[in-house]
Amino acid sequence: MKTIAFFDTKSYDRESFIKYSGEDFNFRFFENKLNPDTVSMAACCDAVCAFVNDDIDRYVLEQLEKFGVGLVAMRCAGYNNVDLKAARGRVKVVRVPAYSPYAVAEHAMGMILMLNRKLHRAYIRTRDHNFSLEGLTGFDLKDKTVGIIGTGKIGRCFADICKGFGMNIIGFDPYESEEFCGKYMSLDELLSKSDIISLHCPLTKENRRLINKETVAKMKDGVFIINTSRGRLIDTQSLVDGLKSGKVAAAGLDVYEEETDIFFEDYSDEIIKDDTLSTLISMPNVIVTSHQAFLTREALSAIAETTVKNLEDYFSGKELTNEIII
Ligand code: NAI
Repeated sequence: MKTIAFFDTKSYDRESFIKYSGEDFNFRFFENKLNPDTVSMAACCDAVCAFVNDDIDRYVLEQLEKFGVGLVAMRCAGYNNVDLKAARGRVKVVRVPAYSPYAVAEHAMGMILMLNRKLHRAYIRTRDHNFSLEGLTGFDLKDKTVGIIGTGKIGRCFADICKGFGMNIIGFDPYESEEFCGKYMSLDELLSKSDIISLHCPLTKENRRLINKETVAKMKDGVFIINTSRGRLIDTQSLVDGLKSGKVAAAGLDVYEEETDIFFEDYSDEIIKDDTLSTLISMPNVIVTSHQAFLTREALSAIAETTVKNLEDYFSGKELTNEIII
């Protein structure tokens, strides 16, 4: 029987994993995030299972090695929060490379529809018996240009959805895919041509703050920016400035630069101390969701299935097909 410490868990995580607990695995579910302060909770465990806002730095990995924990199983696709250099030779790291690209792509389209047709405002209005349409004018998505940055699994799925709306699809990706249904071009060209820009690339050292003052300046006036990838792809102050000046007409953010201590938690009885986030939330043309894009039943069960397979492969000494190696 192997003991696995699950960090940063919520009810939906426990529900999707619990059926795999039994003869082979003893799952210990913690609400705490994995970080230098909490890593001691993994002592006496054989592996840890972590998520997007855990902080798996060198110290955490050194401690895990000391405790004899040989595996960090990420129950997500992204791994920008793991110090892979420090993990090398110490602890193996696996992930779930694909679970439901549809979940994230559909959420991105949901944000576009909501922002464009101002559904969030209409919902509030009619609940208040205000049936006025003033200020709710949107535009047809048909024939508008959507620029997709990152045309991997999610980006391509999003492109297919946009195709269904009759949009003109353009993309930028250093590794072009034949399965992408749009036209590739340089990043600068994409920025200048897109009515809507949607980010679908992973966060790397090279593309941190890809959306910044300079890149916003290259965009069309009235552009929509959608980010369902990682918060640090956007320099938030530049986005706020763009929104204030009207250069950016709307933003849909499922991720946020400083989300780590805020997202996934209920602070409805408290004052949010992050003024930038408060400013964004106060804007009528901004939608913030709390890293929710992955959250479908299908995605949760696929995440659990692949994570358990990763654990089984590790403990039975099989090849780790989902290992992250640098
Ligand atoms: P993927 O690995 O299939 O595709 C990523 C693509 O981005 C690749 O084609 C890669 O060449 C490209 N890329 C890398 N650097 C780039 C750059 N600087 N500019 C343009 N393209 C670049 O990954 P997948 O499954 O499509 O996921 C994409 C990202 O979505 C993940 O890395 C993760 O950050 C995010 N994500 C967010 C979720 C959420 O709930 N909001 C859930 C799942 C993933």
